[in-house]
Amino acid sequence: MILNGLDNFLANAPTLGPVPQVAVPNEAPDELDLSALPRPDGVSLPTGGGGGGVPAIGGLSTADAELFRGVIAKYFAEDVALANVPADQKDDVTPSKGDCIFKDNGFGIGIPETEQVRNLRYDEADTLNTTEIRKQFPILDQKVNGHDLVWFDNGATTQKPLRVIDGIAHFYKTDYSNIHRGAHTLAARSTDQYEGAREKVARFINASAKENILFVRGTTEGINLVAQTFGHKFLEEGDNVIVSTLDHHANIVPWQQVCKERKAELRAIPIDRNGDLILSELERLISPRTKFISVGHVNNTFGTINDVQSIIRTAHAHNIPVLIDGAQSIAHTKVDVQQLDCDFFVFSGHKIYGPSGIGVVYGKKEWLEQLPPWQGGGNMIKDVTIEHTEFNVPPMRFEAGTPNIADAIGLGYALDFVQSVGIHNIERHEHELTEYARQQIGRIPGITIMGNPKKRVSVISLDIPGIPAPEVGQLLDKEGIAVRAGHHCAQPALRALGYEMSVRPTFAVYNTREEVDRLVVALQKIVRDVEHRP
Ligand code: ALA
Repeated sequence: MILNGLDNFLANAPTLGPVPQVAVPNEAPDELDLSALPRPDGVSLPTGGGGGGVPAIGGLSTADAELFRGVIAKYFAEDVALANVPADQKDDVTPSKGDCIFKDNGFGIGIPETEQVRNLRYDEADTLNTTEIRKQFPILDQKVNGHDLVWFDNGATTQKPLRVIDGIAHFYKTDYSNIHRGAHTLAARSTDQYEGAREKVARFINASAKENILFVRGTTEGINLVAQTFGHKFLEEGDNVIVSTLDHHANIVPWQQVCKERKAELRAIPIDRNGDLILSELERLISPRTKFISVGHVNNTFGTINDVQSIIRTAHAHNIPVLIDGAQSIAHTKVDVQQLDCDFFVFSGHKIYGPSGIGVVYGKKEWLEQLPPWQGGGNMIKDVTIEHTEFNVPPMRFEAGTPNIADAIGLGYALDFVQSVGIHNIERHEHELTEYARQQIGRIPGITIMGNPKKRVSVISLDIPGIPAPEVGQLLDKEGIAVRAGHHCAQPALRALGYEMSVRPTFAVYNTREEVDRLVVALQKIVRDVEHRP
């Protein structure tokens, strides 16, 4: 859709007061001269300056205002457009009103929550506005070894938007306190924000309640929590647990440890040459003694999207609970835990533009209520005597001691950011980038792309025979390009395809085709130089 006059509209864009509940059309007219249209009734237009020529929006920083201004202006622009649609046609273009509520995100400005609103950032004729998005990530704006930084190490960790950086700073500057136990104002504010972040996580993955959400340090700690609590309560000698050959060490080692302790067996779903799970083997691996299945959603080396829905269905047909390791999927594809019907889902904040040191375990109520506490201490108790402790209910039962308060709140801001862009838009952008990169790199003679999974996201693993992966990583770094080079904590997956290491570029919302082109040129140079080595 082309909105003629949008610039004009933005130039005169008011700062936005309370955001009214309004309808958004599915489609606005192709050509729309906004400057000729009246502003919608009922929109309050307070004044104020965000600095740098950008109007302030609520309490947002200039950079945040910049990001959301486009969405909000377009949103209002389309509302203006709707005002001109004849009354008898409005039903055709108006989604349900209940879908269009802006929720306050703590900065005093609402984040649009609906698919329709989110997709305003990226429609059929448009592309994701990476220029605007990159402005949110100040770390990207630097030279490394004399070149503009290209951050292609997103599988290891993602960079942080201003929303997260400023949000955490704001929290420490104004509201910080310990939580749950204080009688004072700052304790209440901090508790509200921490519990608010839990609610945001629940909404983001469509958990039925915030009590399903446990905050932990990250995916690794989350899987250890489930492996140890479940293992100690339910695993017995002769039982078995199933993981997959594609899994990260974090989904192998904790289960290996608890299986060894309980004299149980660890089994693994094998993979084929493409890096896809051989799911027909799952039924063969399952036995009456299979107590648990724990698998990755997306593989971190070949980018394989596993058919976890089918794994869960098969497991449940045998009454086996399933944990999904979402470390590599959460930032790249829509996760709906109720639709998946998984029993546990685990992910890390730092892989989804949030802080490191914070992660999430989603658990179904019936499981969380059955599992014993993991660590003992404050917060996880109801009553303590010297002889006995009565434990708290979930989620508190699993959050002993003072949690990582600020980073949980920061994770909430990261999810706000992702929602403001739209996870489907991110997925589509990254898919296009990944396929473009596979195509361009695939044309370079002397480079092998490992695996060819049927469904994949955001990850490519490369081999350049004759030059070790870490050396390729260093040569790319000289060009300002950051990739991971090594075994990526996925040795069984790499070895199944006959490799020990790979060079791994991984893509995120802020990456561009131009950056892929720079990688391709740098790789071509490395291959040429290798060929001329004595
Ligand atoms: N698990 C992270 C990766 O795949 C560190 O790189």
